[in-house]
Amino acid sequence: MTQTVLVTGGTGRLGRGVVARLVGAGCHVHVLARHVRDTPPGVAFFRGDLRKGEGIEPAVEDVEAIIHCATSTTGDAGATRNLVIAAARAGSPHLVHPSIVGIDQMAAWGYVEQKLEAERIVEGSGLPWTILRVTQFYDYCFENSRKLARFPVAAPVPAGFAVQPVDSDEVAARLVDLALGEPAGRAADMAGPSASSWVDLFRSYLSATHRHRLVVPVRIPGSRAVRRGALLPAPGHTTATTTWEQFLTKRLQHNAAAESA
Ligand SMILES: NC(=O)c1ccc[n+]([C@@H]2O[C@H](COP(=O)([O-])OP(=O)(O)OC[C@H]3O[C@@H](n4cnc5c(N)ncnc54)[C@H](OP(=O)(O)O)[C@@H]3O)[C@@H](O)[C@H]2O)c1
Repeated sequence: MTQTVLVTGGTGRLGRGVVARLVGAGCHVHVLARHVRDTPPGVAFFRGDLRKGEGIEPAVEDVEAIIHCATSTTGDAGATRNLVIAAARAGSPHLVHPSIVGIDQMAAWGYVEQKLEAERIVEGSGLPWTILRVTQFYDYCFENSRKLARFPVAAPVPAGFAVQPVDSDEVAARLVDLALGEPAGRAADMAGPSASSWVDLFRSYLSATHRHRLVVPVRIPGSRAVRRGALLPAPGHTTATTTWEQFLTKRLQHNAAAESA
């Protein structure tokens, strides 16, 4: 049976991949975001603001599942609460919620607190739910590497950060599989194929982009949990296959092609 699925934040990094996979799977797709951006043909775009509680009802109408990819630096808990209330009124679709590995071990700061609270709201929503905690996306590491490489001679990189980043396209595929299946509660964490450090990721970026910088590891205050591995997935996690090096090759080729077009 063809399913109708709402992707909140379907124009973001993760959301775009989710939308493409759902379209490929033959689903009817709704997208909810604050700003109109290009979406694939046939996708129904709903302009709304989850945080303000605006424009949610039409987007959740007649959907069998919601993949909740919307996020912003502040207010994710309130946004999730508003989504859950509208979804419950619209017939209680399966709510699939991406979250972040290790958030319960990190020092409490705004975004992490909001993400933890959002998880609690999903768990207590009364809706059928699935939560998938994932590690940092390669896209995010790439953007940060690019910023660090702007330092002309020496780049300060967080010291001892243990990470196991993942390709957001593979996360998108996993979220779609979960959304089209039975509610799973807390699914196994998902991460990329290898654990690394921020310093090593940045060194690989420099090598792939033929840049030379002195890499200066800098101890970040309050980062002890991250240095002890809080961002690494729990045993038994789902492992994606794309490596950081493969991602870099693909992304740099894509960027070069876009520049020469
Ligand atoms: N990035 C990572 O490394 C990473 C790692 C682990 C987990 N995650 C999780 O993955 C999810 C997606 O992250 P992402 O990096 O793909 O985010 P993103 O690229 O910043 O995209 C955010 C999306 O949410 C929409 N949005 C923001 N505020 C909204 C609001 N109030 N109402 C409706 N839509 C809103 C944005 O569109 P508009 O601005 O137009 O509204 C955009 O489509 C989040 O739950 C995040 O915590 C991310």
